[in-house]
Amino acid sequence: MAESRLGLRAAGFRINREWETLRQLLAVGADVPEPFVRADGVIPMSYRGDRGCSAPRLHEVSLRPREAAHHFQVLARNVELWLANNVVHGDLSAYNVLSWDGAATVIDFPRAIGLRFNPSHRRCSSAVSGTCAPTSPGRG
Ligand SMILES: Nc1ncnc2c1ncn2[C@@H]1O[C@H](COP(=O)(O)OP(=O)(O)OP(=O)(O)O)[C@@H](O)[C@H]1O
Ligand SMILES: [Mg+2]
Repeated sequence: MAESRLGLRAAGFRINREWETLRQLLAVGADVPEPFVRADGVIPMSYRGDRGCSAPRLHEVSLRPREAAHHFQVLARNVELWLANNVVHGDLSAYNVLSWDGAATVIDFPRAIGLRFNPSHRRCSSAVSGTCAPTSPGRG
């Protein structure tokens, strides 16, 4: 009983985390879905895809070099934007990026970390920024 209550609390925490992170990042222009309401255990959000199927994830598509470079730039810009707003995604991978009509959308934010409340992650993020900077296509 205590365990299931703990599980429910953890699920509630993840829903809140995702809601707050999506609202925060949408407000600063990140490429994330728009969450509509914080409902009971789910977050209805803007949909990528059409009537037939939802947008494929990045690991499911085959991109031309120009499209791949565009997606890379969009993702690098998003990571910079998140860090500038004290957010680390927590589960960023090709499984959590939708590709639709040439645009990339990052999903799945329940594990997002707020750097403001977590000084050790802040140190990590400086290290990540330093590592990522030289590989960004916009530099040099
Ligand atoms: N805004 C969206 N528009 C269209 N499809 C979406 C959207 N958000 C999520 N999906 C689809 O739902 C799947 C699961 O979403 P998400 O990654 O947020 O959850 P998950 O907990 O990782 O679930 P799973 O383990 O099944 O991937 C995604 O892989 C994607 O196919
Ligand atoms: Mg996922």
